Amino acid sequence: MDKMWAGRFSKALDKEADDFNSSIHFDCKMYRQDIKGSIAHATMLAACNIISQSDSETIIKGLESILTDLDNGNLAFDFDAEDIHMFVEAELTKRIGDIGKRLHTARSRNDQVALDIRLFMRDEANEIIALIKKLLAAILVQAEANKETILPGYTHLQRAQPIMFAHHLCAYAMMFIRDIGRIEDAVKRMNFSPLGSCALAGTTYETDREMTAKLLDFDGITLNSIDGVSDRDFCVELMSAFALVMTHLSRFSEEVILWSSWEFKFVELDDSYTTGSSIMPQKKNPDMAELVRGKTGRVYGDLMAMLTILKGIPLAYNKDMQEDKEAIFDSSETVKKCLSVFAPMIETMSVRKDKMYAAAGEGFINATDLADYLVKKGQPFRSAYKTVGQIVGKCVAEGKTLETLTLPEYKEFDSLFEEDLYAEIDLRNCAEKRISAGGTSVASIETQIEYIKKFI
Ligand code: ARG
Repeated sequence: MDKMWAGRFSKALDKEADDFNSSIHFDCKMYRQDIKGSIAHATMLAACNIISQSDSETIIKGLESILTDLDNGNLAFDFDAEDIHMFVEAELTKRIGDIGKRLHTARSRNDQVALDIRLFMRDEANEIIALIKKLLAAILVQAEANKETILPGYTHLQRAQPIMFAHHLCAYAMMFIRDIGRIEDAVKRMNFSPLGSCALAGTTYETDREMTAKLLDFDGITLNSIDGVSDRDFCVELMSAFALVMTHLSRFSEEVILWSSWEFKFVELDDSYTTGSSIMPQKKNPDMAELVRGKTGRVYGDLMAMLTILKGIPLAYNKDMQEDKEAIFDSSETVKKCLSVFAPMIETMSVRKDKMYAAAGEGFINATDLADYLVKKGQPFRSAYKTVGQIVGKCVAEGKTLETLTLPEYKEFDSLFEEDLYAEIDLRNCAEKRISAGGTSVASIETQIEYIKKFI
């Protein structure tokens, strides 16, 4: 096929160079956005008397028929076309003849692609937000069922203090809520139309950029044509927001993997989200969580690729920028897939309250509460802390726990100890007493659950 720009050349593009140059294999994903943008452009061209009303209508009908045929699978992409923009324009001219050649008046592929990717990513961002909300709903199901489920909270992966499982889950919910905020924020900055920036310098035609911006649901137009075609900040912003979603999913995955190990057995994943082994008949592996953790690397890689593509290119458009698409498509596609599997995996996992409680009973996780007991009886915290450290040392040496140490033994360390200390170090009591705002008490968990519910 002759290139649209073949006029200036005396020789065809080398076959391999042609393949190398072509982007239709991946930018064909944006065909809907490309056609929508062209329809808005053709509408504006007629409104501004740059093309006739009847030509505009013919063009729009042609574009609509292409859209329908692509949607229904009645038209296949021509992978010999250089990119989606060239393909749609060539197909239009095939269908409506020379009138189709008027569509590209007062436009360039540079502003066209900058437009398409914004439109495409706006939809993707909204889909990802909806999927994160589904995950929040799944977290809520587990949180509501485990408001009073005690497990050890960890620091350094060492048992630290008793917490409620719902409190732990709500921590992730807060992260995902911020992730949505970051994505929305990036979309807000991205939602300005570059269409009409043309190649880089604007156009001599009296176009109405505000009109196309409005038709395409933008909040306004980009105010500098060079910036309009050169900016891919929005890709970086979205991809870093996606990378953080993956960071959170990956940390959560790591915990799910640990929790479902025989060493913990805090949770059991549903059969529909686990896999077996080809040799070991007993295995039930948390592959979904592992894959989510692994795919985090891809999404970070996509972000790094985008930053690196941009760092050395002079203004305005350079072909390097064609590399933006595979990176950002991969990034959003991966995040969507991960969220789609992760949410039902969390919702269907069963929680082993008995195992969590048993683990909480080992590791002296009520030692802070014992120190606080002495503080309430008048000891300075630092002295109480030291005394309890010595008590824990004795228990470790003698194979005892804070619960089994007798009152006379306690009194050897501090005469302030009384019978009521045992109630103070009861695990449920320890968690329930953490009434500070944002703490692990049931009241605080209920506040958090309300907040998450309101959010979604
Ligand atoms: N396929 C190109 C891209 O994705 C479209 C813009 C081409 N512009 C140009 N001047 N060659 O970036």
